[in-house]
Amino acid sequence: MAAQFRDQDQLLSKMATGNGHGEDSPYFDGWKAYDKDPYHPTKRPNGVIQMGLAENQLCFDLIQEWLMKNPEASICTPDGVENFNGRALFQDYHGLPEFREAIAKFMGKVRGGRVKFNPDRIVMSGGATGASETMAFCLAEPGDAFLVPTPYYAGYDRDLRWRTGVQLVHVVCESCNNFKITKSALEAAYENAKEDNIRVKGLLITNPSNPLGNILDRETLKGIVSFINEKNIHLVCDEIYAATVSTNQPNFISVSEVIEEDIECNRDLIHIIYSLSKDMGFPGFRVGIVYSYNDAVVNCARKMSSFGLVSTQTQHLIASMLSDDEFVDRFLAKSKERIETRRKVFIQGLARAGISCLDGNAGLFVWMDLRILLKDRSFEAEMELWKVIINEVKLNVSPGSSFHCLEPGWFRVCFANMDHNTMEVALSRIKTFMHQIKDQNREVKELAKKTCRQNSLKLSLSRRRVDDFLMSQISMSPHSPIPQSPLVPART
Ligand SMILES: Cc1ncc(COP(=O)(O)O)c(C=O)c1O
Repeated sequence: MAAQFRDQDQLLSKMATGNGHGEDSPYFDGWKAYDKDPYHPTKRPNGVIQMGLAENQLCFDLIQEWLMKNPEASICTPDGVENFNGRALFQDYHGLPEFREAIAKFMGKVRGGRVKFNPDRIVMSGGATGASETMAFCLAEPGDAFLVPTPYYAGYDRDLRWRTGVQLVHVVCESCNNFKITKSALEAAYENAKEDNIRVKGLLITNPSNPLGNILDRETLKGIVSFINEKNIHLVCDEIYAATVSTNQPNFISVSEVIEEDIECNRDLIHIIYSLSKDMGFPGFRVGIVYSYNDAVVNCARKMSSFGLVSTQTQHLIASMLSDDEFVDRFLAKSKERIETRRKVFIQGLARAGISCLDGNAGLFVWMDLRILLKDRSFEAEMELWKVIINEVKLNVSPGSSFHCLEPGWFRVCFANMDHNTMEVALSRIKTFMHQIKDQNREVKELAKKTCRQNSLKLSLSRRRVDDFLMSQISMSPHSPIPQSPLVPART
């Protein structure tokens, strides 16, 4: 071997040897812990329950029922095999016309029929993952940036940055106003980037939000549209969770509706990312969509789609399924209903355990507030708590830091990737965990009171003030004479 290639770093590209993929983040670590010891009701009842995966497994029975009734939709059945040759040979990157038509119609239905999509603007990609990267390639040069409100989907660090060299600049959103995307936060992020000599090419929003599980209201969306117009930068809206919004108010509003309203907007700046991974529950099919109002972007993205085409077999199946109006209407109604019920039951279960979540009616997860359990307000404390949850409670939830949340103590918990019984097991583990914490708390308080009495401290604190004092010692000081926070056993 030549001397200069002995070092792997020189033999391979920087991309191959670097960590741009982000596989080392806790978000992925949780998956690894699950893979080592996955829960099974009979074979591994003490295994880790996967609550870090935003999958929608609640409606497979409806899909299977449709497949049984429509065997010709598959080119691998006696009823559909006639189509095999045609589909196996077709490789045009425009995609099957019937596929694009069915997708455009489906996207309209998902948005309540309030807006129409043009099949000629539907571009395929390998899931929303591929769609995000395609957008970055079409809109920015290496070194340019997109603004992204925090907390955001952990995969964006990979999808938008890794192979494109594009940067993400954080727009800081906070819990004090339910993580709202404010004009001042957008302005601050934009100005910071400018000061650092970073060219901002766009703003990426996720609506409904992953990980927050809520949606943007009309006023916020209008504010965002006017902000990007003012700055003349692009707006990329990831609407991958559009059909997960429950039927009770507020309703999901797509950017496609907002730009139809009486609002000044250069449509060349507006782009939507979509996929069937969440709304239909088909992440394995890799059906991703770029929908742009900009002709040049449609053109370029279409050519780029050669790198992430959806197989014609899948296009054929999806075209048949999504052009069945009766099925789609029933599926969307049932799916919303089931997600809504699951969300409600899960949130109620958490509330009974003493845990609250951010208000929201969308997504396949909730944004759980465990700030009270941190021994101090640091990300180290968040990681410590996360390790307890994964190693002892045996639940793979995702810490807020992996979504770049700037406040420690928030966790994303997915609820639609399991059956009802598994969810109940998860809830009962959480409940037990919270009870243990309360018991330990009580013991610590008693111990502390005893210590106080022994020291004959002549303090006349009211009972409430004693509690406050103890709690502040427990939750704030790592150097407290009281044993380390009982809420988080000091283990790594
Ligand atoms: C907001 C968001 N965008 C994109 C993706 C990637 O989706 P896909 O499986 O279609 O690539 C996900 C997956 O979790 C997501 O949550």
